[in-house]
Order: sequence, then C-alpha cells, then structure tokens
Amino acid sequence: MDLDFNGRIVAITGAATGFGQATARAFALRGARVFAADLDAAGLAETTADRPGIHATTLDLTDHDAVAAWIQGIESDAGPVGVLVNNAGGVLGRRFAPIEEASYADWRAILDVNLDAAFATAKAAVPGMKRAGTGRIVNISSGAGLRASRTGIQAYTSAKHATIGLTRQLAQELGPFGINVNAVAPGLFAVSPGTRKQWDSYGAEGQKRVIDGLALRRMGEAEDIAKAVMFFSSDLADFVTGQVLPVNGGSF
Ligand SMILES: NC(=O)c1ccc[n+]([C@@H]2O[C@H](COP(=O)([O-])OP(=O)(O)OC[C@H]3O[C@@H](n4cnc5c(N)ncnc54)[C@H](O)[C@@H]3O)[C@@H](O)[C@H]2O)c1
Repeated sequence: MDLDFNGRIVAITGAATGFGQATARAFALRGARVFAADLDAAGLAETTADRPGIHATTLDLTDHDAVAAWIQGIESDAGPVGVLVNNAGGVLGRRFAPIEEASYADWRAILDVNLDAAFATAKAAVPGMKRAGTGRIVNISSGAGLRASRTGIQAYTSAKHATIGLTRQLAQELGPFGINVNAVAPGLFAVSPGTRKQWDSYGAEGQKRVIDGLALRRMGEAEDIAKAVMFFSSDLADFVTGQVLPVNGGSF
C-alpha cells in the first residue's frame, strides 16, 4: 500500500536538508503540491531537483512577517494549506555550555527556530484551514522532547519539550475545526551536516554502542521520518490528534 496526496497542499519548513528535504520530496512523489521553505537556497535547489511538484522559498522563519507572507502566497497560488510540517530546527551549530556560561543569545536563537517558528506558521495557516474545515499540522520534536538530550544543550531540550506542549494544546483547540495536530519525535539520525558531525564525533566504538542500543540495529534514514509525517497527514490518522510518535529504531 502507498499513500496518495494528489492535489494536497503541503507547506514544510527546514526543507533544504535532512528530514525536511526527504519529506518534501516524498510528498511531491505522491502527488502533493509542496511549498518548501528554508534559509538555505542551495539546499532548497537540491530539494526541488527532479521534483516539479515542489515550490521553494528562501525564508528566515524568525521573521514572522515573512512567515505570514509565505503562507498568504501559498493561499493565493494554490489555496489553504492542507498539511503544515514544522520541521526547521536543530541546535544551529551550538555546542553544550554549562548553564552558568550558556548565553541568552544562544538560548533565544534555538527557541526562535525550534519553537516560535512553529507558533508563527500555525498562526498564519490555521485561518485558511478553519475556512476549509480541515487541516493537519505535524511538528518535528525529538527524543529530546521526551527526555534529556545527549547534546546537553538546555535550550534545545526545552524547545523540543515545548513543541510537544504546543502540539497537545493546539490539538485541543483545533480539533473542533477538523484540524489534527501531532508530533514526531526522532531519535538520532545522521542526516544533516550538523548531525553527521555529531555522529562522527562518537568514533567507531561510540557509534557501535548507539546502534547496539537500538532494537532494529541500524541508523535511521530521513525517509523513516518522512513516512511518520505522511502517516499523520493521511486519512489513516483521521482519528489521531495530540499524539507524539517516537521514531527511533526502538531505543530504550
Ligand atoms: N537529525 C536528528 O538526529 C534529529 C533528531 C531529533 C530531532 N531532529 C529535528 O528534526 C528537524 C530537522 O533536522 P535535520 O537533522 O533533518 O536537519 P537540520 O537540523 O540541518 O535541518 C534544519 C533546517 O532548518 C533550517 N533552518 C534553520 N534556521 C532557520 C531559519 N531561521 N529559517 C528557515 N530555516 C531555518 C536549516 O537551514 C536546515 O535546513 C529539526 O527540528 C531537528 O531538531 C533531528
């Protein structure tokens, strides 16, 4: 069985690399009209390569007026957003610093992209979803949204926990309007420049320990996250909202 998103309008952030890129391409392959946003224009060009169904916009998600304009542009080009995937995030190249040394600037930057951006995109897309009487929002949290993070970065763990809070609260608020809101919580995937660097830093022995700790004994692929996002966006998840799906190969 495969999923069909023919004609569905999908907006996805952080689509220049990793999960966002794989998810944008997976939706487009299944017929969706995909609107992909990211800061990274070169990465977006890779995302759209050989996938005519993807329209890319270079955008800074911390600029909330630009976010609103992006969603408005989608609505006038294609119609209300049917599926919103809040994927942009990560540690933005930051490293662990003990709390007494961690800066407010780094704290703010990580919250801005991992949490505030999802608030801004939802704020912009929900009126159109309400008018349509249907919609799906999928937020990409993390294993660090359910427990402490291996990175040790306080802002990242806090933002990813808050993403789950936002998911649960919006599910309650928007359910009566036919809008389902769910979250995916990936484990560690070496799929983007930042996470590949983190993975490489473990060395062969550390990597083996991580893989041996997974029931499925393999590193995940970006497409594994795309599949979970498509599940939440599909008819299969009609009666599923406010939920968090860990996708991590069975870590314990
Ligand atoms: N890879 C992992 O191991 C892992 C694990 C758990 C959760 N996640 C989460 O998955 C999501 C995707 O991560 P990833 O590892 O696929 O790749 P990534 O971290 O490289 O992707 C994030 C994307 O967001 C974009 N971005 C950052 N700031 C932005 C801004 N201000 N405006 C617009 N775009 C911006 C980046 O350019 C990048 O393309 C993130 O939310 C991350 O926290 C990743």
